[in-house]
Amino acid sequence: MSDFALENLYREVILDHYKNPRGHGVIEHADAEAEGQNPLCGDEVSIYVAFGEDGETIDDVKFSGRGCAISQAATSMLMEMAKGRTAEQVATLDKDELLAEIGVPLTPVRLKCAMLGLTTLKVALHKAKGTPLPEGLADFDDLELT
Ligand code: FES
Repeated sequence: MSDFALENLYREVILDHYKNPRGHGVIEHADAEAEGQNPLCGDEVSIYVAFGEDGETIDDVKFSGRGCAISQAATSMLMEMAKGRTAEQVATLDKDELLAEIGVPLTPVRLKCAMLGLTTLKVALHKAKGTPLPEGLADFDDLELT
């Protein structure tokens, strides 16, 4: 497949995640949750996590909020990646793993969009489990997290 065809394919996958987001919704009484905002655009995402019986494995994870196609699609992909992993594994999940899933080159501004969900999820896990905060994630300092 040519680079062009491959990039088109990735774009279609991104669009599909945007239109049919996986794990979109709210978990009532979530074990972990956080809200993140991208101050560049005001877009926000909230992430909710439910742990399994071991208290470590992510049994369910959902997100709500609004944002551009990249932020929503990346968060949707992240929901699929995070399920079944432990809090520790997700806390140390390399952003490149998510970027590989997205598959298209991103400008620095778009990179912030793509990292909004991952950063917010890591903050939620940190608050609930004390896992490491996402230092070194793209422009983390610029994201407003509550
Ligand atoms: Fe707001 Fe992408 S433009 S998160």
